[in-house]
Amino acid sequence: MKAVVQRRYGSAVLGDLDVPVPGQGEVLLEVRAAGVDMGTWHLLSGKPYLIRFLGFGFRGPKCPVPGRDVSGVVKEVGPGVTEFKPGDEVFGTCEGSFAEYTVAPVKQLARKPGNVSFAEAAAVPISGGTALQGLREVKPGQRVLVLGAGGGVGSYGVQIAKAMGAHVTGVCSTRKVNMVRSIGADEVFDYTVADFTGTYDLILDCGGARPLSVLRRATNEHGRIVLVGAETGGSITGGFHKSLGSILLNPFSSKKFAPLMSQERADVYDELRVLIEDDKIKPVVERTFSLSEALDAVEHVHSRRSIGKVVVTI
Ligand SMILES: NC(=O)c1ccc[n+]([C@@H]2O[C@H](COP(=O)([O-])OP(=O)(O)OC[C@H]3O[C@@H](n4cnc5c(N)ncnc54)[C@H](OP(=O)(O)O)[C@@H]3O)[C@@H](O)[C@H]2O)c1
Repeated sequence: MKAVVQRRYGSAVLGDLDVPVPGQGEVLLEVRAAGVDMGTWHLLSGKPYLIRFLGFGFRGPKCPVPGRDVSGVVKEVGPGVTEFKPGDEVFGTCEGSFAEYTVAPVKQLARKPGNVSFAEAAAVPISGGTALQGLREVKPGQRVLVLGAGGGVGSYGVQIAKAMGAHVTGVCSTRKVNMVRSIGADEVFDYTVADFTGTYDLILDCGGARPLSVLRRATNEHGRIVLVGAETGGSITGGFHKSLGSILLNPFSSKKFAPLMSQERADVYDELRVLIEDDKIKPVVERTFSLSEALDAVEHVHSRRSIGKVVVTI
């Protein structure tokens, strides 16, 4: 099969590999589309270096094929699989979706929403799942601020918070303002013109550029600041030290920082499927790339040019 092959951090090429064999609890998927996010860039580059200590491979990547978000068709089921059968259309996460075939654990797969394309479905799992897990505590009528609203996680954050009945304010750069408005944000701040004002019950920080003190000042008493991620933390720890520091501040205030470590789980993807099928959220796919252009797709996201999500179609 054709696949993007990555033997060491920082370099990958389109090559040929054997079709993988599904193990216990896994299925073989014919990949139709693979979502791209900043996590893909981290695993391709090996940066921040901290990820090498977190089980992804110290000298080189453990998995020779990049890409985690996937949508596709089940071709074969491994031992013990009762959830799916050949021909089922699914979406979720796996190790190695930048390929014609991949194996995926069923505990990370759900039935594909019937009302979206494979490309749209592949844009959902990691970014949509992260936003959903970050917004669990939102109550109707609360004020939610989404920083990085024009990106992958942020575009779901805006829509999910709206679906939960919140008043939603999005913050992004100029090129992304129209998109953020179009997905239902009540207010949008273009921070290149003027930064956001006001106070909020929950801040979903997907941009990571603002100091913790600024985030805390913008939070109501007993509010929460969910730290999703940052690309501003340097090549050693990324934004991790900021998350750690935030926890140390929690005992001194009723405003709580909540660093997020999202989980890749079938039940989360099933919740997202229902939200999509009920027309509460819709993946925003700015562009699709072919498998031979997969590295360009990752660079497009890394360069901050992407609006919403970017997908590799196979
Ligand atoms: N905690 C978790 O479990 C988890 C899960 C998924 C992702 N993440 C992390 O969360 C972050 C957001 O992910 P994403 O997929 O939404 O990324 P994304 O699609 O690149 O969106 C992030 C947005 O933040 C802004 N941004 C990007 N780089 C920036 C920088 N250097 N300084 C200031 N603003 C910047 C950009 O908006 P503007 O152009 O409008 O400024 C961009 O649209 C990433 O760091 C990612 O690694 C964490």
